[in-house]
Amino acid sequence: MAVLVTGGAGYIGSHTAVALHEAGRRGVILDDLSNASRAAVDAVRGLTTPDLAFVEGDAADVGLVGEAIDRYEVDEVVHFAASKSVAESVELPLAYFRNNLGSLLGVLAAMEDRGIRRLVFSSSCTVYGEPDVVPVTEASPIGAVNPYGWTKLHGEQVLDAVAAAGGLDVMLLRYFNPIGAHPSGVIGEDPTGIPTNLAALLMQVALGRRDRLQVFGGDYGTVDGSAVRDYLHVVDLAEAHLAALDALTTRTGATAVNLGTGRGHTVLELVRLAEEVVGHPIAHEVVARRPGDAGRIWADPSLATEVLGWTAERDLRTMLEDHWRWCESHPDGFADARTDPPRAPRLGGAPGS
Ligand SMILES: NC(=O)c1ccc[n+]([C@@H]2O[C@H](COP(=O)([O-])OP(=O)(O)OC[C@H]3O[C@@H](n4cnc5c(N)ncnc54)[C@H](O)[C@@H]3O)[C@@H](O)[C@H]2O)c1
Repeated sequence: MAVLVTGGAGYIGSHTAVALHEAGRRGVILDDLSNASRAAVDAVRGLTTPDLAFVEGDAADVGLVGEAIDRYEVDEVVHFAASKSVAESVELPLAYFRNNLGSLLGVLAAMEDRGIRRLVFSSSCTVYGEPDVVPVTEASPIGAVNPYGWTKLHGEQVLDAVAAAGGLDVMLLRYFNPIGAHPSGVIGEDPTGIPTNLAALLMQVALGRRDRLQVFGGDYGTVDGSAVRDYLHVVDLAEAHLAALDALTTRTGATAVNLGTGRGHTVLELVRLAEEVVGHPIAHEVVARRPGDAGRIWADPSLATEVLGWTAERDLRTMLEDHWRWCESHPDGFADARTDPPRAPRLGGAPGS
């Protein structure tokens, strides 16, 4: 049997497809390439097997997802497919609701038609909004503060309801801040347009593709005034999906689980460590806070250890070294290797969660 990986050509999905293969599982990638390229699929095949199945198309298309399930004998699904830029979601809320909820509903309908019960869903710490108390546990108050966050919250609500009605066993994985890349340097994050996530911006400044990094907020109540986040290596995150699939063989209903290291680092700490890793200064300036940014957020990951038997292992230096290896060898991301024709601007070009 196989695991359907929707959004498997993207950043976290591609690493998960590799982790599945390394664990001896058969993955099937379904991706509409709205924020990824065929070259990413080829790179994953290079790290796994040339036979890795890839279905190009929209996860909202119930017929297509159903065909993929039948053809490849899928019995479990990991659902990554979504648009993910907070800023873009504020400008294009309807597109975000359509894509993120539409793709989820499409996958659920195809699963229901075939009696498939086990699903792992990409949620986000963005469902906690701006928390008053840190670290956040799964019992902390939830309440997203932007359309992207609402799509994740509504997605969780849909899944809670379907699971409560007895039709689904699902892990709602609330990711903190994934960074890093596969240690081979063959796959990694390939942001389009102007990235809004910190690691990608840092690396672009380090590569000389941007003048300087703007650090939003220098007056938070933290050790150096900059915001605190819980950075998590993408390979640790990928491995958590395997642990979640394993846990679903015995655990029923819907379970929300935080995925983070449980350690917070300030933005300026990250900049300083990145400077050590790349071997030269990275120009940056501290500017005003951005509305809607939490000053500090990190996870209490103890439930992940208890329920999934998973703990993040890789430290911040490893995250940055691996991210840098990918960026240095692929300054234009997968662009060099791209064989597909140029496309219209894509949704979800900038991670914001
Ligand atoms: N990267 C982060 O910081 C972060 C944090 C928390 C949660 N998440 C969530 O994790 C998931 C994966 O994020 P990522 O960083 O790998 O993003 P990504 O954009 O790299 O990957 C998402 C993939 O889904 C595909 N896709 C989008 N809509 C689709 C659709 N309707 N049908 C088929 N494919 C579709 C895109 O082409 C892309 O390859 C997303 O659901 C995202 O919201 C990401």
